[in-house]
Amino acid sequence: MTMVDATVLKANPLREGLRIERPVESCTLVIFGASGDLTRRKLLPALFNLAQQNLLPHGFSVLGVARTSMDQDQFRDRMREGIGLSGANGPAEGPWASFAQGLYYLSADPHQAGDFSRIKTALEQIDHERGTRGRKIFYLALPPSSYPAVVENLGQAGLSRGDDSSGEWVRIIVEKPFGRDLESARQLNRAIHRVFGENQIYRIDHYLGKETVQNILVLRLANGIFEPIWNRRYVDSVQITAAEILGVENRGAYYEEAGLLRDMLQNHLLQLLCLTAMEPPVAFDAESVRDEKVKVLRTIRPFTVGEVRHFAVRGQYGTGSLLGRQVPAYRAEPNVSPHSQIETYAALRFFVDNWRWADVPFYLRSGKRLPKQVTEIAVRFKQPPHLLFGRSTASLLDPNVLALRIQPDEGISLKFEAKLPGQGMLLRPVIMDFRYGSSFGDDLPSAYETLLLDCMQGDATLFTRSDEVECAWGLMAPILEAWQNEGTEFPNYEAGSWGPLVADELIERDGRQWRRL
Ligand code: BG6
Repeated sequence: MTMVDATVLKANPLREGLRIERPVESCTLVIFGASGDLTRRKLLPALFNLAQQNLLPHGFSVLGVARTSMDQDQFRDRMREGIGLSGANGPAEGPWASFAQGLYYLSADPHQAGDFSRIKTALEQIDHERGTRGRKIFYLALPPSSYPAVVENLGQAGLSRGDDSSGEWVRIIVEKPFGRDLESARQLNRAIHRVFGENQIYRIDHYLGKETVQNILVLRLANGIFEPIWNRRYVDSVQITAAEILGVENRGAYYEEAGLLRDMLQNHLLQLLCLTAMEPPVAFDAESVRDEKVKVLRTIRPFTVGEVRHFAVRGQYGTGSLLGRQVPAYRAEPNVSPHSQIETYAALRFFVDNWRWADVPFYLRSGKRLPKQVTEIAVRFKQPPHLLFGRSTASLLDPNVLALRIQPDEGISLKFEAKLPGQGMLLRPVIMDFRYGSSFGDDLPSAYETLLLDCMQGDATLFTRSDEVECAWGLMAPILEAWQNEGTEFPNYEAGSWGPLVADELIERDGRQWRRL
């Protein structure tokens, strides 16, 4: 692994200045669930990329832990293969050999308290060999039902605290989903807090690690022109869309438990809403940013179970045609009940009841098997107060829209009216477009690179705090309850269409329409 001194870290201009500069201290990342796909496809490729950019500290090591019986070499081969899948040609011999020196594997069952003495011994040995000095991050790449037991075992084994006086520290990264409703999220928070302090806990929402998501705050707060108009006086409404072409693929069993509201809305889309609506934080640090996000969640107008239909609608895809091929209905996907009542589409309408946003609707929608892969935040501005260019044009005027394209084709565009060249006063909307690719190159760091590095630095700005997660679940509570109690006629949208009719009705009742993407 290529190692560099902490002082020259984070030289990447895309990263610089965004978060607090902190040194990255040498440490061991212990991955529970190391034989799984997340480790091979996401975590190790992210770490390898960081190593290639000289962003990892000297001696940084990975200890993979899983029940699968494998020796060190087999583990390294598996990880190399995973990294190969994410890049064109796979890692070159030299860089790989140096990176692989820091990869260790231990076959152990993290549910068995008895196996933790071996984990402890392996960590001591790595500290000794690699100079990681008792600094560790535990990564729970496991099914959520395992979290409480593994956390308790870590506590009992004395692995949850470091000796501050000798510079040791311990952190834990918890993958989503964090609970499945308010009560289970509270229970999970309590279980983890019994062993770890909140400042040691890093709850992942990979959306927050996306370069374009971090750029929302830069756009708003590093430019003088946007913030003065970022409020109810000028903004008509906000639409946040995360559309996916893919169906549930081989994740039917998980989806039958989760559904789209839990999988996408409660976490990713609410995070986008928070970053769009929050007040400028007093500083760009974890507590200040998260305080402001929590305030947004707290100000979202509550509604009762009986009112849910005015605020939230759902859909499930039937069979249809997408990209020229016929695709099966959700109910015909593997491990899905033929009578499933689980939603694969949801649209919500929220109001952020504060001085800045009173009565400005925030529309959120997400769905599987939609015609296009696109995630964006579109801020639609009010029409000019008085129109000079003839009555006939007034109704034809397109509103100004600032669209933040999160992915793909990352960028920001502004739509405004221009005069069509020629005689007469004909107006046409035109688009001013910024593209990451053409301005900075296509090589954006993956969300996991950013998040892993932040955790090593002890920067929790891009991770969700316990109160934030609970507030988000609180908002979903009436919707989950209403949907659980009332059946719906599913399927109600064709694969390859833009979702169910009820979603159009939700927004059309307000005299608006979903953006055509
Ligand atoms: C995951 C969901 O959290 O996010 C998936 O479980 C979804 O269902 C994915 O496809 C979308 O992430 P991205 O980064 O591809 O937009």
